[in-house]
Amino acid sequence: MKYIYDDLADKNILITGGAGFIGSNLALYFQKHHPQANVCVFDKFRDDTYFPSGNPTSLGHFKNLLEFHGEVIVGDLIKDLDKIKNRDFDYIFHQAAISDTTAMDQKLMLETNFEAFVNLYEIARQRGAMLIYASSAGTYGNSPAPNSLGVGEVPENIYGYSKLQMDVFARKILERDSQTPLIGLRYFNVYGEREFYKGKTASMILQLGLQALEHKKVRLFKHGEQLRDFVYIKDVIQANVKAIEARASGVYNVGAGVARSFNDIVEILKKHLGDFEVEYIDNPYVFYQNHTQADISLSEEFLSYTPRFSLEQGIESYIPEIVRIFETQVRAR
Ligand SMILES: NC(=O)c1ccc[n+]([C@@H]2O[C@H](COP(=O)([O-])OP(=O)(O)OC[C@H]3O[C@@H](n4cnc5c(N)ncnc54)[C@H](O)[C@@H]3O)[C@@H](O)[C@H]2O)c1
Repeated sequence: MKYIYDDLADKNILITGGAGFIGSNLALYFQKHHPQANVCVFDKFRDDTYFPSGNPTSLGHFKNLLEFHGEVIVGDLIKDLDKIKNRDFDYIFHQAAISDTTAMDQKLMLETNFEAFVNLYEIARQRGAMLIYASSAGTYGNSPAPNSLGVGEVPENIYGYSKLQMDVFARKILERDSQTPLIGLRYFNVYGEREFYKGKTASMILQLGLQALEHKKVRLFKHGEQLRDFVYIKDVIQANVKAIEARASGVYNVGAGVARSFNDIVEILKKHLGDFEVEYIDNPYVFYQNHTQADISLSEEFLSYTPRFSLEQGIESYIPEIVRIFETQVRAR
């Protein structure tokens, strides 16, 4: 059977947030597997503004794009959408956002994540582009797992709220016209290549791997039993690509479909990196998700999305890159 996404020759693809973790992986995926497609990245990149936590307000980094040969547009979602509004894109993969779940600036979060999305949707509609955008498991807050669409959508932080507002908007559009090509993908905890520049907001898999390599010791919040749906970047790319040919527009969960603990990560890392010590410390966060797990039944049915990587397989595939980052970025410091 032939799928639309098998042949994207001459298609114009825009990836917002293309200098970030997931966006750069998408850009490089299309460049490698669809060399005849025209791939364009739009990103603000990082500047010298920081949240009170010390984290940069935008996390894009040029080094994620060193191997990318397509067009790069430097722009801020909030004020520079004019740069793309008259362009003809066939597919827009909207990854740009304040992805830092600890950021507290409600106004900036909503302007960046929600309002800009509404404006981008209008551009997509006017230009006839399909819009596939990144939502988040943060929309479920601390509701009981497994997390199913439409159930327990009670975010606990402004990040989750901004993503829920995107989904609420998308659902309203689709109520009026279910044919609109609009897909929201609620990613769970994504890990993998090109997340290094997220710094403190990178996945626990990278952070624990680097701690183990550097100190032969890792720190976990007591007692490491918190459960998360960890999903490998290649499965997230798969979900985006398959969204091109979704059987129905709508919002979908993108996870591995199983919940694993931080202790599980430690055990898997030990198999690859050798033994190391684990110190359990108090959790300072008032809000902390204790159990997330994607119900992916609708994603399987309507996107033909099937996660291919268990946590064991994902970490095994990622380990050489974690070791490379340690040797080139951490040890060389
Ligand atoms: N990584 C995860 O585990 C995860 C989980 C759920 C949802 N998401 C969502 O997936 C998307 C991609 O996440 P990521 O992990 O790659 O994060 P990331 O921070 O690495 O990438 C986001 C990109 O958006 C850019 N950006 C930020 N503000 C911008 C603005 N005002 N204008 C233009 N560009 C701007 C940043 O420079 C960065 O390159 C985000 O929407 C995020 O909320 C990620």
